[in-house]
Amino acid sequence: MNAMKIEGSVALVTGAGRGLGRVFARELVSRGAALVYGAARDPAAVTEPGVTPVALDITDPERVARAARECADVSLLVNNAGVMQASTFIGAPSVDAARLEMETNYFGTLSMCRAFAPVLAANGGGAVVNMLSITSFYTNPINASYGASKAAEWSLTNGIRIELAHQGTQVVGVHAGFIDTDMAAGINAPKISPESVARQTFDAVEAGGVEVLADERTRKFKASLPRDHELIYPQIQEFWDTLTKGSG
Ligand SMILES: NC(=O)c1ccc[n+]([C@@H]2O[C@H](COP(=O)([O-])OP(=O)(O)OC[C@H]3O[C@@H](n4cnc5c(N)ncnc54)[C@H](OP(=O)(O)O)[C@@H]3O)[C@@H](O)[C@H]2O)c1
Repeated sequence: MNAMKIEGSVALVTGAGRGLGRVFARELVSRGAALVYGAARDPAAVTEPGVTPVALDITDPERVARAARECADVSLLVNNAGVMQASTFIGAPSVDAARLEMETNYFGTLSMCRAFAPVLAANGGGAVVNMLSITSFYTNPINASYGASKAAEWSLTNGIRIELAHQGTQVVGVHAGFIDTDMAAGINAPKISPESVARQTFDAVEAGGVEVLADERTRKFKASLPRDHELIYPQIQEFWDTLTKGSG
């Protein structure tokens, strides 16, 4: 079992300028990480005390490579950055939103894992945390292409765990339903706090875990997968029918 101690570690969190990324960085500082790099497209947005700003757009391969060179002491990589465009598969005007979500959530995270794998190896193995979603497990038309990108990112997470086992790198996938950040600002439904997600995530890292199912709905959906067409999709269809009733 790979597990890592956060106290004294060097961590990098993507998307650390706001939302969950900011809270991940704060939690790492409070757990005694020796150095926390807060990576953001606009490093000026990284204002959390004790967090060192780094300029990083995860869809820019040159920036990713530079981050891996400049932050060569990282032993804990937290791939948090992500986008959600609330885009359907069929009704969306184009596939632009689907491409952006795939470029960011899947290819961006993949680039980060590839660039930092040798860094983690050089620093004793360390750990990777990938911030996934309940939508890795099922598709909801309201954010359909986002779900596809998170399913791809889930697959990536399970694959790199196997590929990186030989170098002792722990890989943790974190799934959650709605979290109280900008991304879910327009949603009127129960939301988990980013602080709870961050606490559960780093508890799992320190306990040698591989997966966090951060809230009751996420645990229920994953447990329902063997019977998804019976237990999940009828309620999603009903929700979608209500939402689109009279729209055409
Ligand atoms: N909120 C939810 O309900 C929810 C639920 C499950 C999972 N998640 C996942 O949790 C993670 C954090 O989301 P959040 O809730 O904190 O959303 P958020 O408030 O919208 O923040 C998204 C973060 O990702 C960054 N980002 C987006 N594209 C980027 C890129 N190309 N390069 C670098 N950074 C980029 C953003 O930076 P800028 O400030 O530069 O835009 C921002 O810091 C995401 O992976 C999301 O999919 C969220």
